[in-house]
Amino acid sequence: MDKIVVNNLTKDYGHGRGIYDVSFTVKEGEVFGFLGPNGAGKSTTIRHLMGFSKPQKGKAAIDKLDCWKKHGQLMKEVGYLPGEVALPDGLNSKGFVHMMQGLRNAQNQQLIKELLERFQLKMTGDVKKLSIGEKRKLAVVAAFMNDPDVLLLDEPTSGLDPVMQEVFITFVKEQKEKGKTVLLSSHIFSEVEALCDRIAIIKEGKIITVVDAEEVKHYKRKTFEVTFQSKEEYDRFQKEPFEFREVNPDEHMLAMVVEDRQTNQFVQASSGYKITKMVEHQQTLEEYFMHFYKSDRTFGGI
Ligand SMILES: Nc1ncnc2c1ncn2[C@@H]1O[C@H](COP(=O)(O)OP(=O)(O)OP(=O)(O)O)[C@@H](O)[C@H]1O
Ligand SMILES: [Mg+2]
Repeated sequence: MDKIVVNNLTKDYGHGRGIYDVSFTVKEGEVFGFLGPNGAGKSTTIRHLMGFSKPQKGKAAIDKLDCWKKHGQLMKEVGYLPGEVALPDGLNSKGFVHMMQGLRNAQNQQLIKELLERFQLKMTGDVKKLSIGEKRKLAVVAAFMNDPDVLLLDEPTSGLDPVMQEVFITFVKEQKEKGKTVLLSSHIFSEVEALCDRIAIIKEGKIITVVDAEEVKHYKRKTFEVTFQSKEEYDRFQKEPFEFREVNPDEHMLAMVVEDRQTNQFVQASSGYKITKMVEHQQTLEEYFMHFYKSDRTFGGI
């Protein structure tokens, strides 16, 4: 079942800024990644999903509820972590948590206690004076405090230290196991790789592609840097049917791309040569997606 449906969502802020005909769906129980460079339209899309902004065209719906028309209900029900955490004046952390409990009708004190412990929140001091990471942790607690079925997380780990990033990733994995539906925007490829079932790339306000995370993993290719004992061996290997990326005759080194299905062929071919060094490099999700980010590419054909 589709839990989140976005159809031709458009908001034109002028001068080529905004989002244009953005469409995608997130299935129940799915973790959906939203990747894209700065200014691509991730937060704008997420804000429309929370009903903060009226679309000029198209529609966003969560649980079949129109996000603009049912903003009030969604504010109570959906777990939202904003990209920029702005906290109110004159409250300490305890006061803020208390206020959010009221707004979100969060009754489960045990859950709130667990969240505060897990994210190691100190409950003293004015929220305005908290560090960026502490503010974000407080916002995480607010987003999860009523155990919502749908979570919209806008760059959730930005500002968190590496230990807290890990805590957060483990936490979201548990939410996924519990069947929660998560839309997560991020710039951190490892986080997306660890969590997401599908990944959308947005650029200049348009969705460029939506890919299955498993497909990306299977697509993985390796680069091997092989150094041969002699120039003759080095010359001879170049007749083998591999895609050579780099040739270095001085060091008798060849770098080649080997697809997973070619691994056996590569191992067999290599055994007939005198090799002094072999370095393997696995293509990461980052490398896979990086070409979508580069500004000098057109995406018409993708
Ligand atoms: N309220 C607004 N008024 C005018 N322009 C806006 C407004 N909100 C966003 N924009 C513009 O829309 C574009 C998309 O912004 P958005 O914040 O959605 O990007 P983003 O993908 O979240 O980027 P980042 O990775 O930096 O958070 C940007 O060019 C931004 O300047
Ligand atoms: Mg943003």
